[in-house]
Amino acid sequence: GAPVEVNINKVEPGQLIRVEWRGKPVWVVRRTETVLNELEKLDGQLRDPASQEEQQPDYAKNPARSIKPEFFIAVGICTHLGCSPTYLPDSFGEQVEGVTAGFFCPCHGSKFDMAGRVFQGVPAPLNLVIPPHQYLDDNTVLIG
Ligand code: FES
Repeated sequence: GAPVEVNINKVEPGQLIRVEWRGKPVWVVRRTETVLNELEKLDGQLRDPASQEEQQPDYAKNPARSIKPEFFIAVGICTHLGCSPTYLPDSFGEQVEGVTAGFFCPCHGSKFDMAGRVFQGVPAPLNLVIPPHQYLDDNTVLIG
């Protein structure tokens, strides 16, 4: 499949946009300051907080799992059996106490934080996949 160019200029803080790449949904989420600050507090509740089991690009091997902390780019497919998790931008606290936003898989209840890291005690074995990507300029990201 061909790489997909995405204009991120109009993505509002808290918003998630979906694009299709190689037949898969890819998410681009603009994370708020609040959400970014919460990431580091979650390590103790996560299965693999440093994403050591997950194959991912070198530029995503950091706490935010992204090139630019503000923008989270991930394949929107649950690592359990392939459903697409639901983005809960402001009601994730009903799933995990003290957390503003996250992803909840409706199929078997897996939960992921705003860096796509899986919480403990759910069926998904791995963190969400970060697709290969690069920034062509400040407003344009190329996926693939
Ligand atoms: Fe997501 Fe099973 S497919 S929890």
